[in-house]
Amino acid sequence: MTKRRSSHWYGKLDKDGFIHRSWMKNQGFPDHAFDGRPIIGICNTWSELTPCNSGLRDLAEGVKRGVWEAGGFPVEFPVMSLGETQMKPTAMLFRNLLAMDVEESIRAYGIDGVVLLGGCDKTTPGQLMGAASVDLPSIVVSSGPMLNGKFKGQDIGSGTDVWKFSEAVRAGEMTLADFMGAESGMSRSKGVCMTMGTASTMASIVEAMGMALPTNAALPAVDARRMALAHLTGKRIVEMVEEDLKPSDVLTKDAFINGILANAAVGGSTNAVVHLLALAGRVGVDLTLKDFEVASDVPLLVNCMPSGKYLMEDFCYAGGIPAVLAEIKHLLRPAKTVLGGDIAAYHDGAEVFNRDVIHAFDAPVKPAAGLRVLRGNLAPDGAIVKPSAATDALLEHEGPAYVFENIEDLKANIDREDLPVTPDTILVLKGCGPKGYPGMPEVGNMPIPAKLVKDGVRDMIRVSDARMSGTAFGTVILHVAPEAQAGGPLALVKTGDRIRVSASGGTLDLLVDDAALEERRAAWQADAPYYTRGYAKMYVDHVLQANEGADLDFLVGKDTRLVTRESH
Ligand code: FES
Repeated sequence: MTKRRSSHWYGKLDKDGFIHRSWMKNQGFPDHAFDGRPIIGICNTWSELTPCNSGLRDLAEGVKRGVWEAGGFPVEFPVMSLGETQMKPTAMLFRNLLAMDVEESIRAYGIDGVVLLGGCDKTTPGQLMGAASVDLPSIVVSSGPMLNGKFKGQDIGSGTDVWKFSEAVRAGEMTLADFMGAESGMSRSKGVCMTMGTASTMASIVEAMGMALPTNAALPAVDARRMALAHLTGKRIVEMVEEDLKPSDVLTKDAFINGILANAAVGGSTNAVVHLLALAGRVGVDLTLKDFEVASDVPLLVNCMPSGKYLMEDFCYAGGIPAVLAEIKHLLRPAKTVLGGDIAAYHDGAEVFNRDVIHAFDAPVKPAAGLRVLRGNLAPDGAIVKPSAATDALLEHEGPAYVFENIEDLKANIDREDLPVTPDTILVLKGCGPKGYPGMPEVGNMPIPAKLVKDGVRDMIRVSDARMSGTAFGTVILHVAPEAQAGGPLALVKTGDRIRVSASGGTLDLLVDDAALEERRAAWQADAPYYTRGYAKMYVDHVLQANEGADLDFLVGKDTRLVTRESH
């Protein structure tokens, strides 16, 4: 039998073994914790500054129970935590830093397997990317969603209703007092956004890809069954170490396709695209934007905000991801899961308990609702749009551009009474891609100009190199690549240019002739970088474009070698 990885730290009878064991014993661990049993790292993104992950300390205790029960030795360690609603300029700037933290922590310590405790948007992909680059047996336990928001007797959803309330205040349809009052009712328990935002999207995809136990995505954060799931996950990771079942065994191309199919069926976040592309780069799976087109015709089955009307608690009680997988089982590819068997085991016998929440495949909430990839002379390397959250009539449209050169320009001018825009105008925002902002923030769903909001306009086409929150909605064309700051054609758009969008045709075109564009290009200059030192500088210097997952170029791939040099 090959020696366990942890034995290189704790199995030695020399000075090094003494030092590794002795210092750990200051926490009261007995001798038999070092008897060669699997040592399981619990990689925790708990933080009071990441409220969505504030329940993870409790769940870590559940994992530990399971690890001890199965004969392992659990050790919890912290990594950087990314609080989506709290970080500036954007948590996405730090996803790759978290991934580096996770990767190097796993590699440097004497553990045999790892349980990833994450939840808030960037924590799940960041942890998975890091773990995949070391490729020890790994499994995810998610925070789980908050309970449904409540305000004045109505259910309200994280993010989605914030945008709606904000527009209602601007339109004079909601009082500021009510707006402030909704704050407390929206977030009334621990957990992630309870809409199908990026956190629940990523948890759903992770479950559909077989990297977490069934039901992980939807169980509310405070549901006792999530604690039981954490316990079972702790048991399972010990077995996974015995079986040497690694992320590279689970994260195959077929698993990615299953994740993409599930994302379409649940009406998941556009952010899944950059995260899956980055994760694929870590495990060496050849995944491109084109692969997302496999799900273009998948119908929307889950009636949750922002694409529908219910919330994650309702989704859980209606059957959750196992029920969704059962509805799309004819599309799923055979793929191994962390349980060791096929993904089919995740949905065998699954039932739907509320058909208004989880629709049947042949009676969907919306047909053909998967993300659309758009290409054309405005986005040579691609852009995406989420039809399930868009206005159908705007998905085929031609109109004049109104250009905001950067986010400051947008904020200063969007509500000007004399802004020359009509509902036909296509709003364009530059400078919000990976290099430009930097960090590719969630500002692609620009507010509707105040003068149009007052006229009842609630949606317009918006085009940018930014992302948008998974909780947002609208006909928003995102992730335009190459971005403006990298010299993509987006940088050359001027107010008054005509733009043509065809979601059905998969095109996004700037109707300006090539000679005029060349003239503009000759006069174009990138903005001077805002950050000139530190991690942010390294990020800007090395970040890949959105169509490549916005990972850092030198982080693509993995290194599974055991570190053999000691520090003492
Ligand atoms: Fe953390 Fe939505 S802000 S999950």
